[in-house]
Amino acid sequence: MPRALVTGGAGFIGSALVRALAAAGFDARVLDDLSSGSPANLEGTDAELVRGDVRDLDGMVGAARGCEVVFHLAAGAGVVESMNDPLTNFDQNARGTLTALEAARRADVPRLVFSSSNAPLGENAYPASEDKPVAPLSPYGASKATGEAYCSAFHGAYGMDAVVVRFSNAYGPRSAHKGNVIPLFIRRLRAGEELVLYGDGSQTRDFVFCEDLAAGLVAAATTRGVGGQIFQLASGVETSLARLIELIGATAGITPEVRREPPRQGEIQRNYSLIDKARNVLGYSPQVELGEGLRRTWDWFSST
Ligand SMILES: NC(=O)c1ccc[n+]([C@@H]2O[C@H](COP(=O)([O-])OP(=O)(O)OC[C@H]3O[C@@H](n4cnc5c(N)ncnc54)[C@H](O)[C@@H]3O)[C@@H](O)[C@H]2O)c1
Repeated sequence: MPRALVTGGAGFIGSALVRALAAAGFDARVLDDLSSGSPANLEGTDAELVRGDVRDLDGMVGAARGCEVVFHLAAGAGVVESMNDPLTNFDQNARGTLTALEAARRADVPRLVFSSSNAPLGENAYPASEDKPVAPLSPYGASKATGEAYCSAFHGAYGMDAVVVRFSNAYGPRSAHKGNVIPLFIRRLRAGEELVLYGDGSQTRDFVFCEDLAAGLVAAATTRGVGGQIFQLASGVETSLARLIELIGATAGITPEVRREPPRQGEIQRNYSLIDKARNVLGYSPQVELGEGLRRTWDWFSST
């Protein structure tokens, strides 16, 4: 059986990837420091869990040895935390990604798939596509742009098949620890609380179910000849927050109470991704539309 190393595999998207890898015939090893992930996310899988930090080069080389591919998902949390503490964010995400690449090189792993985001694009993320110039608006976006640059460099300098995938807003089971809008809204509704909406709800996002991302990650690892390239992985559908609230309400069987607040400074108004390249080159094809994905996410929250 081919073996894959998943950094951050005890987290939300990583644990969905571990399940997709098993279905695709891979043996998965997870390296995670459990800073936000949990072994509970791996229950029911055969994944081997190595507790460690991606920035520990020796530990990473040991974990990567014997693997066909490294999926690098381990990262510090998102935009807000990076604004409060840009140096820690750089260390976790930029140095973390460089260390993962160097570990893969030293362990003779031919391929690495790096989980990036639309954040490197900043205002250019409407719509997000692979050919737009990078112009991050947050330290988090800069750290992901740096990771993308190192993937390009390891492809150029060492011939490594380093592939970048950029996720839009992910949601799904095992996201209870996340601060993204969908888990946040679900937690508040389940607690009988009102939802807080900044602005008029016309701002848009591209919400993608974690299992669709996992399928895209596996495709990025198993498609030949894509080293050095970037792929947008998303639903390709633009959804307003007002519509999201309607759909979550329908899932929960209630009309949510919404408190409106003024728009937040620096928030991007519209955002979705073009996924034609991933469709054409990787055969990526998102399967779970938002209503269905919200139902499955709500059911998971109800079962915990
Ligand atoms: N969730 C989204 O909407 C989204 C969107 C775009 C990109 N991404 C990227 O996808 C990846 C996974 O995100 P997620 O939403 O599953 O988050 P998550 O917090 O659930 O997962 C991250 C995992 O990495 C681990 N980790 C963090 N720092 C580590 C370190 N130094 N060494 C080892 N393990 C470490 C955490 O314990 C956790 O299990 C991240 O790289 C994130 O930037 C996520």
